[in-house]
Amino acid sequence: MKASPLDRMFSPRSVAVIGASRTPGKIGNTLVRNIVSYGFKGEVYPINPNAEDVYGKKAYPSVSEVPCEIDLAVVAVPAPCVRAEVENCGRKGIKFIVVISSGFKEIGKRKEEAEVLQAARKYGSRILGPNVFGFFSRASDLNCTFGPAEVAKGNIAIITQSGALGIALIGKTIEERIGLSGIVSLGNKSDLSEVELIQHFDSDPHTKVIFLYLEGTKRGRDLMAVARKVVRRKPIVAIKSGSSQKGARAAASHTGSLAGSDAIFDAAFKQCGILRASDLDEAFNWIRVLATQPQPKGERTLIITNAGGMGVLATDACERSEVTLLDDQPYLDKLFEGQILPFGSTKNPVDMTGQARDADYERVMRIGLSDKKVVHSILSLYCETVDANSLNLAKTMDRVIAETGAGKPCIFSMIGGGTVKGAIDFLNDSGHPAYPNPVDAVSSLGALYQRWRFINKTEEPLGDFECDVESARLLVKKARAEGRVQLYAQEVAEIVSLLGLRQPRNKVCRTVAECVSAAEEMGYPVVLKVVSKDIIHKTEAGGVKLDIDDAREVATAFEAIMTSCKQRYPEATIQGILVSEQVRGGVETIVGGSTDPAFGHVVMFGMGGIYVEVLKDVSFRVAPVPENEARAMVRGIRSAPIFYGARGEPPKDVESAASAIYKVGRLMDVLTDVLEMDLNPLMVLDAGKGCVVLDARITLKDEGGEEQ
Ligand SMILES: Nc1ncnc2c1ncn2[C@@H]1O[C@H](COP(=O)(O)OP(=O)(O)O)[C@@H](O)[C@H]1O
Ligand SMILES: [Mg+2]
Repeated sequence: MKASPLDRMFSPRSVAVIGASRTPGKIGNTLVRNIVSYGFKGEVYPINPNAEDVYGKKAYPSVSEVPCEIDLAVVAVPAPCVRAEVENCGRKGIKFIVVISSGFKEIGKRKEEAEVLQAARKYGSRILGPNVFGFFSRASDLNCTFGPAEVAKGNIAIITQSGALGIALIGKTIEERIGLSGIVSLGNKSDLSEVELIQHFDSDPHTKVIFLYLEGTKRGRDLMAVARKVVRRKPIVAIKSGSSQKGARAAASHTGSLAGSDAIFDAAFKQCGILRASDLDEAFNWIRVLATQPQPKGERTLIITNAGGMGVLATDACERSEVTLLDDQPYLDKLFEGQILPFGSTKNPVDMTGQARDADYERVMRIGLSDKKVVHSILSLYCETVDANSLNLAKTMDRVIAETGAGKPCIFSMIGGGTVKGAIDFLNDSGHPAYPNPVDAVSSLGALYQRWRFINKTEEPLGDFECDVESARLLVKKARAEGRVQLYAQEVAEIVSLLGLRQPRNKVCRTVAECVSAAEEMGYPVVLKVVSKDIIHKTEAGGVKLDIDDAREVATAFEAIMTSCKQRYPEATIQGILVSEQVRGGVETIVGGSTDPAFGHVVMFGMGGIYVEVLKDVSFRVAPVPENEARAMVRGIRSAPIFYGARGEPPKDVESAASAIYKVGRLMDVLTDVLEMDLNPLMVLDAGKGCVVLDARITLKDEGGEEQ
């Protein structure tokens, strides 16, 4: 594995603690205590002008007076003194500085934080923090945290944006019997962020699984790019908290108002193979499997159980966690005929009944483990029975797995009293993930499969983008030049046609007579809509009339639109009325793009029309997406069955919808100046008939000058 640029930070030869203290309870005291007591092999230099020594290590008044080179400095002095200390470190040639001190950006002191960073940059030093609890590194037995002195060694690396939670996790990992290869507090991320740390742990030989606790990121795209590569070697499990987006801004587009940060994190993590857990327990459950189990060779899972009910619980959970059950009955019969006790079942879950003893479990497990063809993973369930010894069973399972050397994922769940707890602990300590709850066992196997599918999926290249992007850019530039952020309906229509998407025949008219002749030319029924740069949502203004069948109805609709719009928007300039051919017989969808603070441009697909915000049936991706991903977006919404022939209706033209999603994603990617874009509705017609854009809008970013 190639060296990481942070190797010297995680394996320093010497550490200085600036603000080291002799007073127990102070951060500067705990830091030195933890470093010394955990057994760090390198040199430790407490820096304190008023102390002779701290925990038996000679103290110096300043780093500049330490007679040797220093690789790492940990700074725990009051915020106003941090900058000068960082400056000292830089001058001394210290390349890594952990700023423990808080009192910076987290309380609004952005300028002060920027100055600290500047001081470090001047000397080419990297900063972790400020506002961190430090880090633990198994690579050098370095516990430079002010957390607990005890840290369990193992192969999980934790990167956490929350300091308090991180400290608590150190204790929790001990409780959970999960050891750490490292734990790093990110704090304010003035310099080093999750991106560099994931890269580091990717190359750290002690780390098997990376666990990320994230509250937000400014580097969403970098995170995705790095994760996409790393997850092929090491799984990344993440918790993203703060999922409820407070105070969502009033967006001009439907896409903008639906694009909560949580949905986008969800999509982004899936796109780069990060496994998103919903809470800490789930994360630890998953980690247990990811850190110990081999990659499966296929999708089919065999469940064995001694209790039908437990099997049913697990089966239900399989559906939710996307775990596929082996269902080749003839094969199952062949494998297990004569091997199961009377009243048992060779159906998956294979039920051995409550009569099953260790020898029965052993026999059936052996068959499952040794099968080279169809059993790809095994979930072994057990309900404690009155006269059985759970711990003995656990030991038997451990032995059978060792003897068969099957190299396939094998996961356990055991329900029962006190002896079951001991059996579960024994299995976990022996590297066999075991859970009191079968649902957790299944969800963890699901996480293993989620990663497996991701790394086995061939990445489709983006493909061609036939669009005159230059002309689209010119339209955007023109709006900018006129100081507008909202594109005119006509400009939007031009961009939609540059994308090669179909729109109904239409014409902007000024009088009833013009409308009637336009309608007669295109044929009834028609639709009338207000055209005004000041009216973005036309339906709400009473500016849309459908099902107009003759000249008389045109006149009525014309007057109704005018009256209503003038009444609701007295200030609005009305450019005219759009007469448009009425499109029938499709499904109204929405395809849109918007801009996320963490990930930039995203693309959305969902059920459209005027009730988009009510239905909220949408899926997101970070843009752009290849067409197969666009197809997955169609499949990914709740109402998807509508597109594939629900209730005897003909299936819809999913291909053309996917192509529209693809095009919007590509356009968003190149027109960086666009804030939001909606095609709503995009009417998806029956298969083979394509789709039609009935309404669209484009909003530019507020400031930010030229695109590119
Ligand atoms: N040409 C059309 N053919 C059929 N239905 C249409 C047409 N134009 C609009 N509609 C229907 O009217 C609704 C509102 O029209 P739209 O142009 O989207 O206005 P807005 O979104 O500004 O309220 C659409 O969601 C669609 O259901
Ligand atoms: Mg609309």
